[in-house]
Amino acid sequence: MRSKDLFSKTGHQLVLILLGIILSHSGCTNSQKQQDKTPVEASEKYADYVRVVPGKNEILDEEVIKRGEVLISYSDCGPCHSLDKRGKGPALMDIAKRYPSNSTYINLLARKIIAGGFGSWGRPVMAPHPDLTQSDAEAMATYILSLEQN
Ligand code: HEC
Repeated sequence: MRSKDLFSKTGHQLVLILLGIILSHSGCTNSQKQQDKTPVEASEKYADYVRVVPGKNEILDEEVIKRGEVLISYSDCGPCHSLDKRGKGPALMDIAKRYPSNSTYINLLARKIIAGGFGSWGRPVMAPHPDLTQSDAEAMATYILSLEQN
């Protein structure tokens, strides 16, 4: 009788210990879930987001910059890109911060503007602009990259 009592006592304790382990474990996964829920934006450090690419800056053509600014204002870029605030797309000034202002990156960004894409600035997708000419897209990219020099 006594040994049975003892067993049920330890059994009871065991159940409590197991319960404790399960609870603390589920507490753990809960907080992990909470972390998943916080927007990536909030946990990202600004520097990790911008990831400055080293390179040489070239003097940009003022005329092309102006043409790019006008082209952008008449295009559909606005709802996704503001000058200095991250929206669906990165802020134009953050794009300017990342890339050196030179013809290589102007060409590359122009292609990206035409083709669209994703993955360089997080998850949202950039719509393609197949009707833009490479030259117009390059003017837009020139304007964007000029923003950091101001
Ligand atoms: C539907 C929303 C949307 C529209 C419209 C849009 N963009 Fe974007 N843009 C994005 C997103 C999202 C990204 C980030 C893509 C990525 O992470 O690769 C981006 C990225 C960019 C980049 C940086 C590309 C890189 O590889 O770093 C440039 C330059 C750019 N956009 C210019 C423009 C211009 C110019 C227009 C207008 C002609 C435009 N975008 C219209 C959403 C948009």
